[in-house]
Amino acid sequence: MENLVIADFNIKNIDKILEIEKESFSNHWSKQMFLAETENKFSRFKICLADSSIIGFIIYRIVLEEAEILNIVIGNKFRGKSFGRQLLKYAVNNIKENKVKNIFLEVNERNIVAQNLYKDGGFVQYSTRQNYYGNDHAVLMKLSLC
Ligand SMILES: CC(C)(COP(=O)(O)OP(=O)(O)OC[C@H]1O[C@@H](n2cnc3c(N)ncnc32)[C@H](O)[C@@H]1OP(=O)(O)O)[C@@H](O)C(=O)NCCC(=O)NCCS
Repeated sequence: MENLVIADFNIKNIDKILEIEKESFSNHWSKQMFLAETENKFSRFKICLADSSIIGFIIYRIVLEEAEILNIVIGNKFRGKSFGRQLLKYAVNNIKENKVKNIFLEVNERNIVAQNLYKDGGFVQYSTRQNYYGNDHAVLMKLSLC
């Protein structure tokens, strides 16, 4: 298993992040949405690199005792190599250091790969949100840390 290098997002990384985001979602985040996260004092925006190239990223927010994972993406060519698991684990460990009690997230009901990743990381489904993604429902998941 190749080890990832995880670093803070820098504005010079934005074009690569947009490229990875666009190849991954039809309804993708805009540049403005990413930049808004960099201005949000509750947000953590981390990139991950393999062989010095950016291959993915994760964005999460920590607000007092709660955290939320907003987005995690590994570029197409690099999937299935445990990078997503390592990146999620990094975020969960970082969140734990902040005395958070619960981590929440929502994922498209049809995105089984991501649901598997989250289950693998200990997340459990606690509800659904109907038609959250157009006609698709959102699966609401959480990880209790206490
Ligand atoms: C979801 C995503 C981040 C997973 O990253 P990844 O590096 O490919 O995942 P990993 O190789 O670390 O796999 C970790 C676990 O995820 C699940 N998983 C990964 N690929 C899978 C696949 N093709 N089918 C089913 N489950 C899969 C498995 O549970 C796997 O554990 P295992 O290897 O023990 O079976 C990646 O597929 C991705 O970027 N998808 C597009 C963006 C996205 O949907 N993000 C989530 C938004 S909520």
